[in-house]
Amino acid sequence: MNLLAISGSVRKGSYNLAFLRAMKKLCSKDTSVTVYDQIKEIPIFDPDVDDNNVPDSIGSLISMMRKADGVIISTPEYAHGVPGALKNTLDWLVSSEALILKPMVVTSVSTSGLGGVRSHSALILILSAMNTNVVVEGSMNIPYAKIKFDESMNLTDDVTKKAIGVLFLAMKQAIKNS
Ligand SMILES: Cc1cc2nc3c(=O)[nH]c(=O)nc-3n(C[C@H](O)[C@H](O)[C@H](O)COP(=O)(O)O)c2cc1C
Repeated sequence: MNLLAISGSVRKGSYNLAFLRAMKKLCSKDTSVTVYDQIKEIPIFDPDVDDNNVPDSIGSLISMMRKADGVIISTPEYAHGVPGALKNTLDWLVSSEALILKPMVVTSVSTSGLGGVRSHSALILILSAMNTNVVVEGSMNIPYAKIKFDESMNLTDDVTKKAIGVLFLAMKQAIKNS
C-alpha cells in the first residue's frame, strides 16, 4: 500500500514529523510511506479562488492524495485545537474530491501527558465533515514525546513502535474494505 503521511507541524525539530519518519523506517516491503512536511508553503485559504486555479502547492498535494491508498495526518495541539497551518491546508481540500472516502489515520504526538487528545478529536471531526474514512482503530495519541525519541529524533520507545505496526494493519484492512 502507498501511504501519504502529512505533518501538521512546521517545526524542523517536530516530534510529529519524527513520528512519521519513524513510520517510513518501520514499514514492511509491501508498504511505502511518503512524508509531506510542506504545509508552511501553503497560502491562506481563499474561497474566492476558483477550484481550477488553486495554488501549485495545493495542486501537487491533491495529486499526491489521489495517488495514495491511505493518508496519515500527525498533528500537534495548539491552544486545545488543530494548528492553524494544518486547518488552513484542509480548508483548501474541502471542495476537492481527493479525500472523499479515503482511509485516513489521525495521530497526535505531544510533549504533554494528554498526548494532544483535544486536537486529535478536533481533527477527526474535521475529517468526518470532509467525508473521509477515518480509521479509528489505527488512530492514536502519543504522550510524553520527549522520552520516546533520542537527541537525533529517532523513535526509541518499543511500545510506540508496536503501535505503528497496529496502525499499518488497521490501514491495510481499511484499504482492503474500501
Ligand atoms: C503555541 C503553542 C500552543 C500549545 N498548546 C498546547 C495545548 O493546548 N495542549 C498541549 O497538550 N500542548 C500544547 N502545546 C505543546 C505542543 O503540542 C507540543 O509541544 C507538541 O509536541 C508540538 O508538536 P511538534 O513537536 O510536532 O511541533 C503547544 C505548543 C505551542 C507552541
